[in-house]
Amino acid sequence: MSTTTTTTTTTNTGDFDDYEPTINNLLEKDTLKWIFVGGKGGVGKTTTSCSIAIQLAKVKESVLLISTDPAHNLSDAFGQKFTKHPSLVNGFPNLFCMEIDPTPDHDAPEFINKQNGGGLMDFQELAMSIPGVDEAMSFAEVMKLVQDMKFSVIVFDTAPTGHTLRLLSIPSLLDKGIAKFMDNNLSGLFSTFGNVVGSEHSPEQINSKISSIKKTIEEVNIQFKNPDVTTFVPVCIPEFLSLYETERLIQQLTKLDMDVQNIIVNQIVYPENECGLCHARSKMQKKYIDQMADLYMDFHVTKMPLLKAEIRGVPSLTIFSELLTVPYDPSKPVVLPTENQ
Ligand SMILES: Nc1ncnc2c1ncn2[C@@H]1O[C@H](COP(=O)(O)OP(=O)(O)OP(=O)(O)O)[C@@H](O)[C@H]1O
Ligand SMILES: [Mg+2]
Ligand SMILES: [Zn+2]
Repeated sequence: MSTTTTTTTTTNTGDFDDYEPTINNLLEKDTLKWIFVGGKGGVGKTTTSCSIAIQLAKVKESVLLISTDPAHNLSDAFGQKFTKHPSLVNGFPNLFCMEIDPTPDHDAPEFINKQNGGGLMDFQELAMSIPGVDEAMSFAEVMKLVQDMKFSVIVFDTAPTGHTLRLLSIPSLLDKGIAKFMDNNLSGLFSTFGNVVGSEHSPEQINSKISSIKKTIEEVNIQFKNPDVTTFVPVCIPEFLSLYETERLIQQLTKLDMDVQNIIVNQIVYPENECGLCHARSKMQKKYIDQMADLYMDFHVTKMPLLKAEIRGVPSLTIFSELLTVPYDPSKPVVLPTENQ
């Protein structure tokens, strides 16, 4: 055995210990406030974010799970109707869910207008003249509102990748946009939009509203970029397209200065018998799991098994969620309550 080999082995063992294949690092981190769960359509974002939230609820005072996917499916996963206000998940004393739509032409403006005692609608039409300002405003306002609610930690079940990335990159884009906007002659703009804004808003009022939005967005931005406070958890499945998209997602998040420490690899097939289909799928998946092991040595990569049934309802989600903290042992297959019926 050469010295070099010994050294390498020691280092690798050390690294491996640092990145155990669970989400325990997230559960243990007291400063963590925002957890975004994202990935390609159908890989298991909702199932994973519900499971992360269930595990967090065991160790944190209060947890809020928010769906920002217009195709809300927290209600489906928990089998309980949620609204745009936080409501307790049945069976939990401290786990809340809400479903919001960050696109301003849906739920959000009403939300904002209420908070501002009305009058913002006119302003919003003016603000629409800056691309992205409307959506970013709704998103930032929602984050601000949620922040004021004083939950220990907030988990986001996001829309499929493209939409989420756009939303997350708006704060920095907008920061520049608003700076430009403020540099412009506001009275000139004011006369252009005078009809929209109406006589009750002076340029000073508009200016101060823009400043306050800018402040909110800056605050959101600072939090997003702080790895002690915010982290993004990509969810993927062991297939070519998903691996490729995860790699791109991580690169884009890195560009946005967003922290990524955990990756969830979902729907892994563990053949239980000689079934040819399961073995073929498993062999195909293994190729990508091995690639991920090489690519993501510096991440906590958590492998989740493909179960025989859909994972819906608190009992099933709770069983599944345990596998985020204690690695799955294929010799002890998971039995979901629904499978017993
Ligand atoms: N490991 C798993 N084993 C068995 N079923 C699973 C697993 N992960 C997810 N599912 C099921 O697959 C379906 C899709 O999962 P989920 O809704 O979590 O995906 P998603 O990424 O949120 O989808 P969308 O992009 O449509 O929001 C659900 O019916 C869920 O119960
Ligand atoms: Mg979903
Ligand atoms: Zn099979």
